[in-house]
Amino acid sequence: MSAQHTNGSAYIRCKNVVKAYTVGDHEIVALRGIDFTMQRGEMVAIVGPSGAGKSSLLNLLGGLDTPTAGQLSVGGLNLLDLKGRALADYRLRQVGFVWQQVERNLLGHRSALRNVTLPMMMAGVGIRERTRRARELLAAVGMSEHAHKRPAQLSGGQQQRVAIAVALANHPPLLLADEPTGALDRASGEQVMALLADLRRRYGLTVLLVTHDMEMAIYADRVLTLRDGALGQDLSHALADTPPALDQEGRIRLPAPVRSHLDNATRIAIEIRPEGVLLRPEQESEDDTEALLQSMLPRSAPRKGWWPFRRNGRATQEERR
Ligand SMILES: Nc1ncnc2c1ncn2[C@@H]1O[C@H](COP(=O)(O)OP(=O)(O)OP(=O)(O)O)[C@@H](O)[C@H]1O
Ligand SMILES: [Mg+2]
Repeated sequence: MSAQHTNGSAYIRCKNVVKAYTVGDHEIVALRGIDFTMQRGEMVAIVGPSGAGKSSLLNLLGGLDTPTAGQLSVGGLNLLDLKGRALADYRLRQVGFVWQQVERNLLGHRSALRNVTLPMMMAGVGIRERTRRARELLAAVGMSEHAHKRPAQLSGGQQQRVAIAVALANHPPLLLADEPTGALDRASGEQVMALLADLRRRYGLTVLLVTHDMEMAIYADRVLTLRDGALGQDLSHALADTPPALDQEGRIRLPAPVRSHLDNATRIAIEIRPEGVLLRPEQESEDDTEALLQSMLPRSAPRKGWWPFRRNGRATQEERR
């Protein structure tokens, strides 16, 4: 299935977007030709493993970084053309950004209310209007009672709610949220997702969010997968058509796109995590032990054909057992 929307009136257009970072004398390609579009008012979740390029994509759309190649437009504005004042104005008024790192969203020495008024101050909004709007937004995110508190006096979930209010201060039509629930427990995470869905309806926002967590992604209209810098399947319809199921014997049925995300492995490893149960592909070969050892070794160790007990290139029968 293509991640491309065919309708002509797209609000976000990404065409063959490439992002490479130069570190020392080598290049890391974080995005390898991303093609996708989003309609105004849509809520889309991007899921993908760590290092897939999710934050890189959001940073480009937020005008915080520029693509190495490709075309990128938001609301008819070509982001590659925006420079200086126009770019600052785009960041201030056209897009609201919620960072992956909770502490990066709010200024510690300002109260929740004064965090929300800050972007309006920068946009030249008068004190009465900015206080009124900040109170309205804090009410919309359920934080009226905590308006006077500083971030350190709030829980992680409460801080993310205030961060969303800050992001919406100057009425941006687009909200970008990078793992807004990443640092939260399940209940607070679900509250933040429900809040984003509600604000999207209330303010007619276009919302693009990143998450590791499929449970959070189902709040979105569409779920796109990003892996090694490339967009994969659109999981939304598949998930709706064949919801995952657990039978009485404990067998799980997974939708096809989720299976392909597990590299269509016939054996999977199961890990119990505080937030739930993680499934990941397991290699089905004689090299299982080797794979396990490799995963425990530092990254600099040779990756292939290495066997700790091998002598003269061959393992003895005993060692193989
Ligand atoms: N400023 C940077 N300079 C150099 N390399 C970077 C930079 N930012 C990201 N990268 C690299 O680009 C790749 C994609 O990183 P990115 O932060 O976009 O991943 P991600 O999907 O957001 O991961 P995570 O889920 O861990 O937040 C990674 O290999 C990362 O190391
Ligand atoms: Mg990230």
